[in-house]
Amino acid sequence: MLSYQHAYHAGNLADLYKHALLASILAYLTAKPKPLSYLETHAGRGLYDLSSPEADKTGEAAAGITRALAENWLPADHPLCLALDAVRARHGASAYPGSPLIARHFLRPGDVAHLAELHPAEHEALAEIAGFAHLHRQDGFQMAQAICPPTPRRGLLLIDPSYEVKADYDAIPRQIAKLARKWNVGVIVLWYPILTDLRHAPMVEALRRNHPEALVSEVRFPPARPGHGMVGSGMVVLNPPYGLAEEALRIEALYDR
Ligand SMILES: C[S@@+](CC[C@H](N)C(=O)[O-])C[C@H]1O[C@@H](n2cnc3c(N)ncnc32)[C@H](O)[C@@H]1O
Repeated sequence: MLSYQHAYHAGNLADLYKHALLASILAYLTAKPKPLSYLETHAGRGLYDLSSPEADKTGEAAAGITRALAENWLPADHPLCLALDAVRARHGASAYPGSPLIARHFLRPGDVAHLAELHPAEHEALAEIAGFAHLHRQDGFQMAQAICPPTPRRGLLLIDPSYEVKADYDAIPRQIAKLARKWNVGVIVLWYPILTDLRHAPMVEALRRNHPEALVSEVRFPPARPGHGMVGSGMVVLNPPYGLAEEALRIEALYDR
């Protein structure tokens, strides 16, 4: 039974980091006219309201995107700001886009999107805003293994698990190795939490070993609540687009101040 609900965490410091890099990759890939595939294994509901009781309860968005906007962490023409502006113009000033709506901002006619979301309520909410994509109510890894290599062959796969199933940490290096073999030109992106108990560490070591040329970026931030185990987050990017390493350094620097 899945219990994770991203509405409590949308727009937090981990989301800001992940979505800033995701939007930068999408902006780069869509700058060329060639069509692309966009795949997500763990899509969530796609659209969040930062004035909701869930966001209020944790205060995570207030410490994340709301603070970042107030303090101009990102330039107004950063790809994430452009996607956020477009989503707020359409859905209201407290709206925050999940990764599917960030992708939606950049995708063009001719691009193909496949989104997996297993949780029934999250999937139902996603269906309301994701008419642009093929939706899959199935395990995201099963979907990705079945579709890869996708058509068009050029493209991006985002893997953003909730890590509710602890076996994910063991399984992910094997899943990614298999996906990379099938789709050697795909930009494969994994988000992971940095945890005080270092549960993530063997997974990241295995990924570094299997894919020495991958970009690995990490940021640290204070726990959302005293005693909370997440103290940062990371991204592994196979086949990183040109310029992404420099963009990752710029984003990392925002978290150092
Ligand atoms: C961290 S959230 C996704 C957030 C989203 N990618 C974003 O950035 O806006 C993870 C989502 O994965 C879903 N999920 C958990 N296990 C899954 C699985 N095996 N396959 C597909 N979705 C799953 C959860 O219901 C949750 O909505």
